[in-house]
Order: sequence, then structure tokens, then C-alpha cells
Amino acid sequence: MSIRIMGTGSALPGRVVENRELEGMVDTSDEWIRERTGIGSRHVSTGETVASLAAEACGRALADAGRQAEEVELILAATCSPEEAAPCVACRIQSEIGAGNAVAFDVNAACAGFLFALHTAWAYVEAGIYRNALIAGSEVLSKLVDWEDRATCILFGDGAGAVVLEWRDEGDAGILSSYMENSDDTERTLWCDSAFTARTVPFDAEQGLPEADAACDPYMRMAGQAVFKFATAAMVRCTEEALARAQLSVDDVALFAPHQANERIIRYAAKKMDLPLERFQIIIDHVGNVSGASALIALNEALCEGKLKQGDVACMAGFGGGLTAGACVFRI
Ligand code: ACO
Repeated sequence: MSIRIMGTGSALPGRVVENRELEGMVDTSDEWIRERTGIGSRHVSTGETVASLAAEACGRALADAGRQAEEVELILAATCSPEEAAPCVACRIQSEIGAGNAVAFDVNAACAGFLFALHTAWAYVEAGIYRNALIAGSEVLSKLVDWEDRATCILFGDGAGAVVLEWRDEGDAGILSSYMENSDDTERTLWCDSAFTARTVPFDAEQGLPEADAACDPYMRMAGQAVFKFATAAMVRCTEEALARAQLSVDDVALFAPHQANERIIRYAAKKMDLPLERFQIIIDHVGNVSGASALIALNEALCEGKLKQGDVACMAGFGGGLTAGACVFRI
């Protein structure tokens, strides 16, 4: 038996923002952004929501898998930028695509969210609780970005990716291993306060709590170099751990589709693992950092470009706020 990736899909907002456009908004340059991050442009929502992008990507993944929405038994949405606290994004996807027979809930593990959702779905299907799962990674980080902060606003983009997982009685294609890990972030290397932080509760005054509004910073913040250091080490460590669990080596992997936070992180990891950059699907140049969606979009683009054929082994790795990290190895 195997638990196989049957289909993939992705969706990006129509509005493309080139680096040059950002030059007019903050003190930056196309040259600096390309050189330090590998980003040339990103897609930014002008009305698309986390749920609408996710539903579009899910519809494409289902069509690719040749499955109907009513057949879906589990929907997981990975996101750290939902527009609503409730209903969750997975429930929105469910009603949007008409997957009335599914159980649906969200997973938030920041940029590694897609891996944590995939791992969760894999465990459910492996346990025989559900026979299939639709997993989406979707983000509209443009709503969490401080467009006056040049250190962060140049990095992120919006979009969604999705995969269909399914139990198969036969065959050796499918997930070979999946690995997740967490480390604490007491130093606050990567964070975004919730809008709820701005609420004052009537009982706060009794406790002598300060006015909440003053403390709230609703934007995505990070200590760039600390995140860079964590990300490079985590990507290599998780990839090697997932491969070890699958009893494979980096040489067995036809293509790596990692989370894309900075092209230099991918270059560093490739060098560390002694791999040519051509073995990595790099999409950050045209989508930026799409957090919990980026590796799924990368996988979808690689498959659309015919870079993976049946029997090939692929690997996805990710890392993000939390701190969270993980990797997944599978055969196409
Ligand atoms: N344009 C021009 N100059 C800039 C910009 C910008 N957009 N941003 C920062 N600078 C300046 C800084 O102010 C600094 O100037 P100074 O030397 O006068 O003080 C100089 O450029 C160098 O800044 P550094 O922060 O040292 O630049 P660095 O090479 O580290 O690149 C970056 C910054 C791109 C953020 C990098 O640290 C990085 O990619 N870190 C990883 C974090 C990451 O990818 N986060 C994404 C979200 S997290 C995730 O997905 C897991």
C-alpha cells in the first residue's frame, strides 16, 4: 500500500508587483533585492483572499487528480494569514468547492505549515481514518506586511498551492517519510502579533494591565540574519533526517521543492549538501516568499514543467516562525 500524491494545483493573484514599483515606496532598489534575495517580482492580492486562493488551488489539484469534491474526506489548510478567526480557511474551502463530505480544519505552523499539514494528513490516512485528503497552503501576507519597512516588505508575496493525497492498495509511489521539529523562539526572531492583542477586555483594569492598543504591532517582524541562520541549518538538517528515515540519500532525489524565503538560503543548503542548484525548483524570483504556500507552488510548477516523471523521488523542506521546520520525501 502507499499514500500517494494524486494531483497538485496552485493559484496566484492577478496583480504582479515588480521590484521597481517598490523603489517608489521604500528606500530600496531592484538590484539590492535581486542580489540579497533572488526576488524579481511577487503577486499581491487586490481582493483575492486566503480562502479564495486556496479554493482555486484545490479545484485545480482535484481536477489534476481526476477526483470530485464530494469524494474528499479531509481538508487541511495551512496558513498564518487567515482573514477571519472563524470559520477557518479549510471550512471556507469546503463550502467554496462543495466538498460536503469532508472534515475540515486549519494548521498554523507559519512557513512550514504545508509540511505540518501534509504530515497530519499522512498520519490520518496511514491510520485508516480517512482514505484521502486535500491539503492547501495559502497566504495573503501582503495584509500582514508593513509596507513602510524595507527589511520585510520586499520579501513576501501572496498565493496558494494544493495537493491531493490518497490511500492506494498497490504501488510504491507516495510518501516515503515525513519529519517535523520545533525549537523555541524566546528571542523573537520571527513574529506577528494578532489583531486581538489590540483588544482591551473589561477585566484588564482590575489586573492593572496596560492599555493593549499601545503594545500591539500587527505587522510581520523578523531578525533577518537570525532567521537566515536558523533557516539554512534547519533546511539541511530536516532534509537529511527525512531522507535517513526513508533510507535514501540526497543522490536519490530527482528534485527538491523547498520553502522559498531567500534564494541565498537555497544556494547555501545546496552547497552544504553538495548538490547542484539545478536540482532545486526555484520560484522565488517571480513569487517571492509565499510562506506556507511556497513549496506547494514550487512542486506544482515543477510537475507542470515536466521536471518529475513517474518513479522519481522528490523532497520538500520548510522552516518558519515558531520556530517550525520539517521535510517530506515522496515518490511520484
Ligand atoms: N533595500 C536596501 N537596503 C536594505 C533593505 C532593502 N530592502 N533591507 C535592508 N537593507 C539594508 C539594511 O538596513 C542594512 O543597512 P546598513 O548596513 O546601513 O545597516 C543593509 O541593507 C544590510 O542589511 P542586512 O539585514 O544585513 O542584509 P542581509 O544581507 O541580511 O539581507 C534579508 C536581509 C534579505 C532579510 C536576509 O537577512 C534574509 O533573507 N533573512 C532570512 C529571513 C527570511 O527569509 N525571512 C522571511 C520570512 S521567514 C521565513 O519564511 C522562514
